[in-house]
Amino acid sequence: MVQNWTPNSWRQKPIQQVPDFPDMAVLAAAEAQLATYPPLVFAGEARRLKSQLANVSEGKGFLLQGGDCAESFAEHGADTIRDFFRAFLQMAVVLTFGAQQPVVKVGRIAGQFAKPRSSNIEKQGDIELPSYRGDIINGIEFNEKARIPDPERQIMAYRQSAATLNLLRAFAMGGYANLDNVHQWMLGFVKESPQAERYRKLADRISETMDFMKAIGITPETNPNLRETDFFTSHEALLLGYEQALTRVDSTSGDWYATSGHMIWIGDRTRQADHAHIEYCRGIKNPLGLKCGPSLTADGLIELIDLLNPQNEAGRLTLICRFGHDKVAENLPRLIRAVEKEGRKVVWSCDPMHGNTITLNNYKTRPFERILSEVESFFQIHRAEGTHPGGIHIEMTGNDVTECTGGARALSGADLADRYHTHCDPRLNADQALELAFLLAERMKGGRDEKRMVVNG
Ligand code: PEP
Ligand code: CO
Repeated sequence: MVQNWTPNSWRQKPIQQVPDFPDMAVLAAAEAQLATYPPLVFAGEARRLKSQLANVSEGKGFLLQGGDCAESFAEHGADTIRDFFRAFLQMAVVLTFGAQQPVVKVGRIAGQFAKPRSSNIEKQGDIELPSYRGDIINGIEFNEKARIPDPERQIMAYRQSAATLNLLRAFAMGGYANLDNVHQWMLGFVKESPQAERYRKLADRISETMDFMKAIGITPETNPNLRETDFFTSHEALLLGYEQALTRVDSTSGDWYATSGHMIWIGDRTRQADHAHIEYCRGIKNPLGLKCGPSLTADGLIELIDLLNPQNEAGRLTLICRFGHDKVAENLPRLIRAVEKEGRKVVWSCDPMHGNTITLNNYKTRPFERILSEVESFFQIHRAEGTHPGGIHIEMTGNDVTECTGGARALSGADLADRYHTHCDPRLNADQALELAFLLAERMKGGRDEKRMVVNG
């Protein structure tokens, strides 16, 4: 048991990013209601993810984490979930093939509703309103009523998460993820893209391998690994009242788990060592992510690791680095060296999205070349330091949106207006996500060949 911790001990600490709920009694009633609802995930699943991440921390795997910046109530449909899942599966297959290593699949989904904001106020023309904080808190519409935080939204978010998770479980375990379907995962609009030919070739090679394995008696019917996949959920644990209501004791171990998702992470704006978000997260046993931005010092990071992973348990902590393409070279090496010097076990993951946001034609966007550049630097720095570039954390969708510029189709600033649908930050569309996966696969293959050369002298 963690010392001096309870699911509500965070309430005694200073806290950032708290919504201004107009009626605390209504909030308490919604939280009390949530506390009676069934858990969304089970402790055993979180432990399974942790053990897969432990392998990644030892250099034996790669973490693929991605999904919406913010899920929305309006876009809750089967097609959206399916399109995301198949874009994600395509990426995973490309990465598995490139790295020849297991890919740990974690969606930013089924709970990714609460958003930290840089400003409490949003201004349009002369009108100022409270900022949108995610569908679990208030509405995105720019009017006074929508922006009032409403606790009932937490019940909606819980129910949407349950339904989303239900469909994801069916896809992952019920045959959709069967490797025999590798050709079918191609999305309509990706079929015309420059990535299509590359993907088709890879899918052909997988199908050929499957045919060979079938000939020697290894089939999806006899081997679950070929027909099912592990897929886990994650979100930022920002709204702590909601998290607390879903914090439950695991009857087999007696430990506390967040049951709102398999993995939760702490955002870059809420990682103060003596504040509420770190306090909550240190007491639950799920795998945790910690966003690491440019303001994080090496000593600050070690202090946070001491709090979040005092036993130095492999798989417990993933450091999600989000510096920006022009800041990664200056910031990542000092953090890697501090962690190595102290012998801490972590997964190093790269979030090439949050440090690369710019405004273009009044749209928040991210140039694809900057995203690639941060990823390239992340790999190079890890190779130079002798550490494992263990994962990627992206904002993406399976839909054909126009939110990030660049990529093989060369989306321009003028194209952004076409299909800009995100409720928060700009996401990679399925085409751009697949292009990124191919680049990653090449880098990982490069690392493998390098290692072989060292071994063979
Ligand atoms: C996010 O992941 O959507 C986010 C807000 O990230 P960060 O905390 O790194 O800014
Ligand atoms: Co975001």
